[in-house]
Amino acid sequence: MQHPSLNIAIRAARSAGKLLIRYLDRVDLLKVESKSHNDFVSEIDRSAEAVIIQELRARYPDHAILAEESGAQGRGDWLWVIDPLDGTTNYLHGFPQFSVSIALLHKGRLECGVVYDPLREEMYTAARGQGAQLNDRRLRVASRPSLQGALIGTGFPFRNQRHIDAYLGMFKDMTMATAGLRRPGSAALDLAYVAAGRTDGFWEIGLAQWDCAAGALLVQEAGGTVTDLAGGKTYLETGNLVAGNLNVHQAMLELLRPHLNERLPA
Ligand code: IPD
Ligand code: CA
Ligand code: CA
Repeated sequence: MQHPSLNIAIRAARSAGKLLIRYLDRVDLLKVESKSHNDFVSEIDRSAEAVIIQELRARYPDHAILAEESGAQGRGDWLWVIDPLDGTTNYLHGFPQFSVSIALLHKGRLECGVVYDPLREEMYTAARGQGAQLNDRRLRVASRPSLQGALIGTGFPFRNQRHIDAYLGMFKDMTMATAGLRRPGSAALDLAYVAAGRTDGFWEIGLAQWDCAAGALLVQEAGGTVTDLAGGKTYLETGNLVAGNLNVHQAMLELLRPHLNERLPA
C-alpha cells in the first residue's frame, strides 16, 4: 500500500510542475531577484511554492514546513521540506533540467520523498522501507563495482566559493578516476539519477536540506548509500553529500578524503 502522505506529495509536485511548464516559454517576462551572489529567485519559485504549501496544508494543517522561499512555518514532529524549483538558474535560461522536490520527515527521519521532472513527466518517489520508483517502475542503483568506467554527477560550489580550491582538487581526481563527470544543475534530480542507475554516484558541497532531502531517500530506498564527506550521517545538516552504491560510495569517500581540511571537515 502506498504511504498516504506520498500521494499528497505527488499531487502537490504535479501541480507545481504544471505551473513551471506553463511559464517556461515566458521566462524573459518573469521578475527575477538576486537573493545573494549567484542566487536567484523568480515569481515562479514563489508561486510554485505557494501551490505546494496550500495542498499540503489542506491535508496536514498541523505539520511544520521548511520551504526554500518562505522559510520555516509551524512546529512539531512532522516536517515537510520543500524546494519548489530545484534548478532555478537552468529554468531561467530555458535549459531543460529542473525539478520539484518534496520530502517528509518525522522527528528528523526521512519518511517519504518525491522528485518530479515536469518536462519528462518523470515522478520519482520513495517511502521509507518501501523502495523507490520512477513512475511505476521500481528503482535500483547501478551495480558498478568501482570507479572505473563510472559516470558521476556533481554540483559546482558556485554561490559560496569558500571551498573552491578543495572542490577543484576533488574534481581533478574524480575526472581522472572515472569515465566522466556531469553537472546537470538540479541536485534533487542528480540524486534521482543515482537512484535510477543513470549515474553511478554523486557528490556536492554545501547543499540546503530542500535540495537533497527527497533525493537522499530515493537513493537509500533504491539500495544505495548516502553520507557526508566523512562517511557520517550529517549530510542534511552540513549539506555535504556523497551518494552511490556501496562500492562506488566507498571509493568516492576515499578519493575525496585527501581534500578535506579544517575549513571543509565533513
Ligand atoms: C541548486 C541546484 C544546483 C546545486 C545548488 C542548488 P536551486 O538549487 O540544486 O544543482 O548545485 O547547490 O542550490 O537554487 O536551483 O533551487
Ligand atoms: Ca535547490
Ligand atoms: Ca529552488
